[in-house]
Amino acid sequence: MPANFEILPDRAALVARAAAFVAEQLQGAIAARGQANLALAGGSTPKPVYETLAQLELPWERLHVFWSDERYVPADHPDSNQRMACQAWLNRVPFPAANLHPLPTGAGDPAADAAQHEAELRAHFQTAAGQVPAFDLILLGMGDDGHTASLFPQTAVLEERDRLVAVGRKDGQPRLTFTVPLLNQARCVLFLVSGAGKQAALRAVLAEQGDANQYPARLVQPLGELRWLLDAAAAGALADNLPSH
Ligand code: 6PG
Repeated sequence: MPANFEILPDRAALVARAAAFVAEQLQGAIAARGQANLALAGGSTPKPVYETLAQLELPWERLHVFWSDERYVPADHPDSNQRMACQAWLNRVPFPAANLHPLPTGAGDPAADAAQHEAELRAHFQTAAGQVPAFDLILLGMGDDGHTASLFPQTAVLEERDRLVAVGRKDGQPRLTFTVPLLNQARCVLFLVSGAGKQAALRAVLAEQGDANQYPARLVQPLGELRWLLDAAAAGALADNLPSH
């Protein structure tokens, strides 16, 4: 599926467009299938998007929220992606606790926690072994090194094709992450990329030819839609010739 790009003039416009797109996608999934399954990105870019979503009315009981990756820290740790999204959004709306599916980080064993979450995914989506659940929407950011979720350059998890959730590593520190097969089963993946610091990595990720091991965001080629929301600072000269692939 060719990617679809939108370049917004600045970060505020990117945030507004992203929130509107997410709401539209969730409403569409609920209308079509009675439920929306969303996976959130971590990092700093999505936080104002979550704060904007907190101002919207959505059929909360029909929405299930997951995370595409998580630092291996307690849920109340300042680095926790779960903590960020709950403070920015989910604690501010009448969101049913049963519909919250954070990546667990309490076993003291990242691989065991990853396996536990994989079992939770299979139970929620009612998928058998060998089948891959299809999220309605997965939000992703992209690091200035071209990583996404916790798929960091030159790490073993980039090769994982059997598990749905696995252990990524950033500077040797464990993180839990959705794997490439799970990301690519999504009906829609939305990348949110802001800031001039992302320009070089974006060029490498979007180039016709390139090394996915060095720029892991290249591995995200979902069966469904692939959408990029960029601000002008991140797009830079790309604005004149975005690839059609
Ligand atoms: C995380 C994210 C990570 C993030 C990128 C971009 O846990 O940090 O999942 O993949 O999306 O590093 O982060 P920024 O949005 O802060 O630039």
